[in-house]
Amino acid sequence: MLNAILFRRSIRNYSDKKIGKEQLEKLIMAGSHTATAKNRQEIGYIFVQEQLDQLKAQVFNGLGRVTEEQPDHPEIKILKRFYKGRKSRPEEEMLFRNAPAVLFLTGDHLIDAGLAAQNIELMAASMGMGVLFNGYLTRITEMLPEVKAFLKAEDKTITICMLVGYPAVKYERTAPRKQPEITIL
Ligand SMILES: Cc1cc2nc3c(=O)[nH]c(=O)nc-3n(C[C@H](O)[C@H](O)[C@H](O)COP(=O)(O)O)c2cc1C
Repeated sequence: MLNAILFRRSIRNYSDKKIGKEQLEKLIMAGSHTATAKNRQEIGYIFVQEQLDQLKAQVFNGLGRVTEEQPDHPEIKILKRFYKGRKSRPEEEMLFRNAPAVLFLTGDHLIDAGLAAQNIELMAASMGMGVLFNGYLTRITEMLPEVKAFLKAEDKTITICMLVGYPAVKYERTAPRKQPEITIL
């Protein structure tokens, strides 16, 4: 288990291999069997693979609108970079990283969702897949009502967004980490 944790990495470069039904079921099972406070089990899962191009079109249309209408948005610089990058360097896929699929977790409880997402990542790694927790796409989705409508999540909060797929890269080493502060009493 420690090896799996040490060798997991954020994946920002994916092969075009799709995620099968059985693999998807395992990912969601790993999430839905995670502990939740008060056993509330309120996390929803929205998986986009077949309609990913439509999702991207909605996101970039929305980004175009926001960057025009909200020049004082606190994240305007990066939003513009995502929007313009799509036009000038589409192959880079700064936001979607060429992942074959996106998994959204919905709900009002960040700790529940975070724990579930971590189990999903480990399950993905055990099947040769990888993920990228995408904080920007989470915030962008929350910001754009048309994207939430597309996801059938108008009345939900998008808590976490993960790109999912088979890595096109292989890491030989673990990532260095800071020495954490530890107190043992
Ligand atoms: C909540 C959360 C949001 C993140 N959002 C992004 C993101 O929007 N874009 C990105 O490239 N990486 C994102 N990351 C990945 C982190 O940058 C990454 O986990 C960190 O640099 C450590 O690298 P590693 O995951 O390969 O060990 C996010 C990670 C977490 C936990």
